[in-house]
Amino acid sequence: MRQKTNERVRQIFSGAKLSQPSTANFFILAMTRACDSDKKTTHPGPSGAFCPRPPDPLPRDVTGWIRFVAQQLKRADLCFASGMQEPYPEAEYLVCHAFDIPLEPHALRVARVPADGWQRVQALLAARIGQRKPAAYVTGEAFFAGHRFVVDERVLIPRSRIENILDDPRGFSPWLSRNRVRRILDLGTGSGCLAIALALAFPKARVDAVDLSPGALEVATLNRERFGLGRRLRLLRSDLFSALQGERYDLIVSNPPYVPVPDFERLPAEYHCEPAMALVAGVDGLDLLTPILRQAPDHLEPGGLLVCETGDDVEAILMARWPDLPVEWLPFHFGASGVFAVLKEPLEAWRAHFP
Ligand SMILES: C[S@@+](CC[C@H](N)C(=O)[O-])C[C@H]1O[C@@H](n2cnc3c(N)ncnc32)[C@H](O)[C@@H]1O
Repeated sequence: MRQKTNERVRQIFSGAKLSQPSTANFFILAMTRACDSDKKTTHPGPSGAFCPRPPDPLPRDVTGWIRFVAQQLKRADLCFASGMQEPYPEAEYLVCHAFDIPLEPHALRVARVPADGWQRVQALLAARIGQRKPAAYVTGEAFFAGHRFVVDERVLIPRSRIENILDDPRGFSPWLSRNRVRRILDLGTGSGCLAIALALAFPKARVDAVDLSPGALEVATLNRERFGLGRRLRLLRSDLFSALQGERYDLIVSNPPYVPVPDFERLPAEYHCEPAMALVAGVDGLDLLTPILRQAPDHLEPGGLLVCETGDDVEAILMARWPDLPVEWLPFHFGASGVFAVLKEPLEAWRAHFP
């Protein structure tokens, strides 16, 4: 069953990369409290308390700890869909974080186990296994489009397939000449990952990024500071386009919530650590996509482009609902799409006959 669920999650969220904050010390503290309250627990308890036994003997080197953590992760039957996809690389990543080892090729070879190594590992296992937190929330960071972002439970872990367009040297050029991109909008910005990656890819453009969640906007603000984008990236609280009256863009990107309620309920625990409002979009996943399609033409310049993620299942639902929707599904290297592109004019023409 778990296997199936994982497969389904991958279908919905493939193309992911992972990785958020809490320092090792924070977890040591949290862990100490959890263990104090339930000293005999060796499995996740009702409160999520999880107190694994230390390996005997304690590994002397970092690789030994990585192997131990990988074993624990494997046994715990976790979902790796929003992260490193496999126990060993995730263990490597988590142990490096817990031991303050830089993520650099040679760092692991010369790294030493800190004196409180076991306590640090215990804390990370409590978070990852006991609370089923995705690794990104354990470390407080996520990698997206080659950049490192601050994340926490106020935002979705960055993994939008739109990243594949940013990675592609052709970028948006089949539809939009690079030189004409002066204004960009990211609708539902979460951590700000897409808005920031776009601001870095289009250094002459001004970027607006909106979200309905105040918490998400706080995280996006931290990331804006981290990348020194200042006034070039404007963050606004808005219910879709509501705060953007009269604003027009050359490029609008969106990775809106699109998970149908019944699918959301079946997702593994890791997904339930993420904000529900970042994922769920009504019974068929179209609650936000429909108004985006309807309203985007009013906010695009002539020849402007809307690029939007829907995931594979909702791609099918969308096309069954509106077979004449004039969108182009982008062919990705992994053999699926789930992201469409459409220019203002065809979308406007389609909207004129909107059922
Ligand atoms: C799937 S997450 C995407 C976050 C980010 N763009 C990414 O790709 O990681 C969707 C985001 O839309 C925001 N959101 C949900 N409903 C919204 C609405 N009505 N108006 C604006 N943003 C909304 C959520 O708070 C969430 O941050």
